[in-house]
Amino acid sequence: MSKNILILPGDGIGPEIVNEAVKVLACLRDDFALDIEMDEALVGGAAYDAAGHPLPEATLQLAREADAILLGAVGGPKWEPLEIAVRPEKGLLGLRSELKLFANLRPAILYPQLAAASTLKAEVVAGLDIMIVRELTGGIYFGQPRGVRKLESGEREGFNTLVYRESEVERIVRVAMDIAMKRNRRVCSVDKANVLECTELWREVATRTGADYPEVALSHMYVDNAAMQLVRAPKQFDVMVTTNMFGDILSDCAAMLTGSIGMLPSASLDEAGKGMYEPIHGSAPDIAGRGLANPLATILSVAMLLRYSLDEAEMAGRIESAVDKVLNSGMRTADIHSAGMQKVGTEQMGDAVVMALREA
Ligand code: IPM
Ligand code: MG
Repeated sequence: MSKNILILPGDGIGPEIVNEAVKVLACLRDDFALDIEMDEALVGGAAYDAAGHPLPEATLQLAREADAILLGAVGGPKWEPLEIAVRPEKGLLGLRSELKLFANLRPAILYPQLAAASTLKAEVVAGLDIMIVRELTGGIYFGQPRGVRKLESGEREGFNTLVYRESEVERIVRVAMDIAMKRNRRVCSVDKANVLECTELWREVATRTGADYPEVALSHMYVDNAAMQLVRAPKQFDVMVTTNMFGDILSDCAAMLTGSIGMLPSASLDEAGKGMYEPIHGSAPDIAGRGLANPLATILSVAMLLRYSLDEAEMAGRIESAVDKVLNSGMRTADIHSAGMQKVGTEQMGDAVVMALREA
């Protein structure tokens, strides 16, 4: 039976980059007999404008039914004045929590062709291959109570709650451990156990869970130090596992090590391996609609989708080789451009990947 992929372009550069990723999927379907169907729906600001809510019931329903979801990006200045409950970001957060996509995998891999595009010295980042495993449905992003309240003095006070149950820590640490078993068998759990009780418990549960994996070397690091180590000596890391918010921050940081945030895909998985796939960069409103955005993170997200949710590792490999080939040819979008390379736009980059697929 054919697999159903739900396409959620979203806002900003979302529609442009997703368009290129859809071309890649269509090529695999038409030329390589990948048995898929694609549906499209609204999410984020686009959904708010059309339906009054960033995650309309119809979209959520399609997302529940799909075998996998490909998302572009959400958000933009246009919707910033809205109250938090209906901002585009709520569409994304709603999908993550409604579909119980608790495990967010964010690989940071440096393509050797892009060593010169990193702001760090080539020798610091050459060969970089880190997997950040971010908890995605708990922590301060979702903790209650939250809000802004008025004090007796009349002054307002904003508050959020960082909360993790033992079971939530255990299951994300297990994901990290299982991934590490297929890599270099090192996991660094990142917390702020010296200040926050919640992450002191995190460390305790991580240690306990890690004991079930005697072949994996588990270490712990405070988040401030982890941020520093990521830019000082990133190759010391294999797998990092951390909370929702620390993972948000550290993954942007790790992304820049690879030259551009425009290169990094991600997978958000539930207990059964169903997933939503998206580039880790945002909607980049400053360049939206100009055909400048790098579609490679979204195209590489398709590769992750095929590998993790559709069990099509060979198809995934085809995409990754095609991207490699296109980079070898010297084509670069503006974000990864360096001297002597050919500057191309979003569409040209997508077309080049499709061409490389066909030629393989
Ligand atoms: C990410 C993004 C999201 C997050 C935003 C858009 C809600 O920054 O996926 O990293 O904070 O999780
Ligand atoms: Mg982020």
